[in-house]
Amino acid sequence: MAEDLDILKGDKQSQYESLIPQIKALIEGEKNQVANLANIAAALKEQFNWWWVGFYWIFDDELVLGPFQGPVACTRIKKGRGVCGACWEKEITILVEDVEKFPGHIACSSASKSEIVVPVFQNGKIVGVLDVDSELLAHFDEIDQAYLEKIVGLIQND
Ligand code: SME
Repeated sequence: MAEDLDILKGDKQSQYESLIPQIKALIEGEKNQVANLANIAAALKEQFNWWWVGFYWIFDDELVLGPFQGPVACTRIKKGRGVCGACWEKEITILVEDVEKFPGHIACSSASKSEIVVPVFQNGKIVGVLDVDSELLAHFDEIDQAYLEKIVGLIQND
């Protein structure tokens, strides 16, 4: 497919609805998971221009930084630590309106004010998380949750 994204303006729901088929087209036919995670992070960054968006993947019982867009970030997170580690431990999406109020939040960047972390499952097992950070308070809601969960559901095994 063409490598240009069609960036729709408008309400958040319409933006996701326009982006999801494009993400599907980007990753179908490519079985390398790193390539697909990289393009998903880039597509989300291009559409929404969030401060930081990317993946942490489980290796040797730690979350290890994967493909992302945004400033450099911490490379390893233990289970239960920070928002990402809590998402891994609980295996549920975590929405944080104000990171300063989340006990144990890991501040990779002082600019980050709110965050959403979505678990990625493959064959019924958690394999990583999608982390999105914003420099605005309470930037994410249940609409983001629903669509981001849909997007990570598109990720296939190697
Ligand atoms: N804030 C995250 C750490 C990852 S960075 O934000 C990219 C956390 O508390 O787990």
